[in-house]
Amino acid sequence: MTAAPAFLVSELLRKKRDGLALNDDEIAFLVRGFSDGSIPDYQVAAWLMAGYLKGFSRHETLFLTRSVKESGRCFDWRALSANFHNAVFADKHSSGGVGDKVSLVLAPVAACLDLKVPMMSGRGLGHTGGTVDKLESIPGFTMQPSERQMVEWLDRTGVCLTAQSHDLCPADRKLYHLRDVTATIDSVPLITASIVSKKWAEGVDVVVYDVKCGEAAFMTDLPQARALGRSLVDATAGAGIRALACVTRMDEPLGSMIGNANEVTECLWMLRDDYPSANHRRLAAPLLELSLRLAAEMAVLGGTRGTMAQAISDARAAITSGRALQVFMDIARNQGAVASWESRLPQAAVTRVVKATRSGTITHIHARRLGLAGIRMGAGRATAESRIDVAVGIEMLVRPGDVVANGDALMRLHLQAGQTVEIEPEIERIFGFDDPSGPPVSELLIERITA
Ligand code: URA
Repeated sequence: MTAAPAFLVSELLRKKRDGLALNDDEIAFLVRGFSDGSIPDYQVAAWLMAGYLKGFSRHETLFLTRSVKESGRCFDWRALSANFHNAVFADKHSSGGVGDKVSLVLAPVAACLDLKVPMMSGRGLGHTGGTVDKLESIPGFTMQPSERQMVEWLDRTGVCLTAQSHDLCPADRKLYHLRDVTATIDSVPLITASIVSKKWAEGVDVVVYDVKCGEAAFMTDLPQARALGRSLVDATAGAGIRALACVTRMDEPLGSMIGNANEVTECLWMLRDDYPSANHRRLAAPLLELSLRLAAEMAVLGGTRGTMAQAISDARAAITSGRALQVFMDIARNQGAVASWESRLPQAAVTRVVKATRSGTITHIHARRLGLAGIRMGAGRATAESRIDVAVGIEMLVRPGDVVANGDALMRLHLQAGQTVEIEPEIERIFGFDDPSGPPVSELLIERITA
């Protein structure tokens, strides 16, 4: 005889519908039942919607996070190698943006600041890019290592860059699919449980969140971004992990490159401290500063550096000394990149310059519209199943505040032979001119949210 279930799901739904909080056992029951298939999708969908409308308490959010984490494998690095006894494991999570290649610079810099970085990343979806797609543009690069390889790379190089494996938080994958079709994605507690469960399972001691805020971000205004940052920090701290959120601007693209292989190229310029032109250096500067700042925040939070001034100075030295570049090369070699991969990155066959059709001061560059143009070019994914072309992309030649004349180059499209992209009719929608409110400030960091 099979034992009766611990709870009647319809009673739990009634409780949530009436705005009451579920307790730890009830949440664990729902997540476990959904994972093993004993609770059907329609009941879990009803729970998600009731929670979306009535809210989840801080405690419910933390317990949901714990239950999702416990649905799969969890890393315990110190149990895997005696060399890790005094190590500090740290990661960064970004809520996603256009041209956001921070991870590729931050990970090797963080290793130079004596952190171990078992970074787990996602693919691009919609107008935002993903670290996995960018790294997979490196010929030979693989992101599904064995546990033994991860331990070896973290020990030797300090970084291991992976895609989320199927056995890590499997309940999150199922819940995300259900949220996607029930209009319950944009709930701060549900986003929190989804993100923090994965960081918790990753076994890190420190997480720095880069919560993007702006028209090209998941969170378009400051109160929303703040609420997400606060919720992420609280849940992460509740999991016993040191956490901090930086709310950063995501209105215009980060750096000059938007795409995949071309974004890796821009990271190589930053890590080499060697750019094809002064203009490329200028456009990458805010992105580099943000990458160094977030790596430094990780080091201070993790205690491998005592002060922010020291951490920033050491982060900068990691670039100028070439040590961060060496770490990136070691990561690439560990993870299967072919010899001389830098010169074998996929490249678009042709480029086409897009010119200004009027004179004036550029006050806005609408990153979301650029991201959507990137999808039409094949550099981004409209649905999770879409295939992308890692070689194509957009190269920005200007930034807000620049004054241009009619006919000046604004951007360069990197295209496949014969590929036609009608972007000219959109120039006036992508570039804003002469807005009296002026260009946005160049500082990307808006505010820090601490535990
Ligand atoms: N990223 C995630 O991993 N989960 C969410 O729910 C939203 C963004």
